[in-house]
Amino acid sequence: MTLSEFRARFPILARRVYVNTCSQGALSIDVDEAMRAYLDSWHESGSPWEMWVEQVERLRVRFAASIGADSDEVAVMPSASAGINAVASSLTFDTPRSHVVVGDFEFPTMAQAWMAQERRGATIRRAHAASTSPDTLPLDAYDAVIDERTLIVPAAHVCFRNGHKTDIAGLTRLAHDRGAYILLDDYQRTGSGPIDVHALGVDFMVTGCLKYLLAAAGIGFLYVRRDLIERFEPTVTGWFGRVNPFAFRIDALDWPAGASRFETGTPPVPNAYAALAALQLLERVGYEAVGQQVDHLVGRFAAAARDAGFVVRTPSAPERRGPLAVVQSVDGPALVSKLAARGIIASCRGNGLRIAFHAYNTDADVDAVLGALSAEWSLLDRISVEK
Ligand SMILES: Cc1ncc(COP(=O)(O)O)c(C=O)c1O
Repeated sequence: MTLSEFRARFPILARRVYVNTCSQGALSIDVDEAMRAYLDSWHESGSPWEMWVEQVERLRVRFAASIGADSDEVAVMPSASAGINAVASSLTFDTPRSHVVVGDFEFPTMAQAWMAQERRGATIRRAHAASTSPDTLPLDAYDAVIDERTLIVPAAHVCFRNGHKTDIAGLTRLAHDRGAYILLDDYQRTGSGPIDVHALGVDFMVTGCLKYLLAAAGIGFLYVRRDLIERFEPTVTGWFGRVNPFAFRIDALDWPAGASRFETGTPPVPNAYAALAALQLLERVGYEAVGQQVDHLVGRFAAAARDAGFVVRTPSAPERRGPLAVVQSVDGPALVSKLAARGIIASCRGNGLRIAFHAYNTDADVDAVLGALSAEWSLLDRISVEK
């Protein structure tokens, strides 16, 4: 499938410039049809649970393949937060190794889920961004706090606030050298290009479907490295975390050998329909092609925005940025409204305007956003007005 065939699958792109995939991916015809297929199956068959559960299993297989994992290393969760809490509930903090190292660029859940473990004995250590460069988080910041007391390092791949991409391979080596686990939060990257979790060496990874995976809210994934799975028995559990949920036992707690032991209740069936269709669509265009287009668009946008004198908070080095570029505004919400009036859908976090690209975006989208920003220059923080 070519990029323009891919783009044609998203009706909204005929009417709007859509650069808000960091919040919600655009709706494709494929996902629309899949959700209708779910409703049809409900209308037709009433309660086809076998078929519905089978759909979740197909999704598990497909998602695992898309990140270079095996399907029994993947748990299908209702959210990324549920995946993080499943890991947290599996750990014990009553040993000398009880520190959790949390960086400044984490999504709130990632900090909050671990702060909640302080009651169970965890100590939070912070890896801070440099005071002189508040939008960069170098490995040195982690190096200063990861030590023989560190149990786990939860880390976002791409920051939702400023687009900074952390060197996860380097951070994984650092954590492992000091005997700590690493939990990758890949939510702001998954679907925007290829990843191979085995090659990366992370211990755990969480992500979800509603952003660059181009599906709906209500579904996430937890990857657990094969050799770790059987070490963990989460205290947050339920019948879908059993060897055979349909054994309906209330007298025994057994643990499957695979990552499904981290699951809890009835799986998110409607979302599995949507997510499977979105994954199939992404496979047709190919993750390599997606990654190249995203990288091209972000690079082109960020370079032109810098040339225009705008304050681009996302690092300029290609290896330190993901699919999101953030430009500093003087009034983020007002700028988002002005862009919406010009047919451009974007979002902000504080005064950081978030411009996110997927492979369905084009050079014309980049130009449209740049043109609108130039027209709304009074709402932008600028390095030099003359430039
Ligand atoms: C980086 C990151 N992590 C985690 C989450 C939370 O995901 P969920 O709502 O599925 O728990 C988000 C959602 O925006 C995110 O951007």
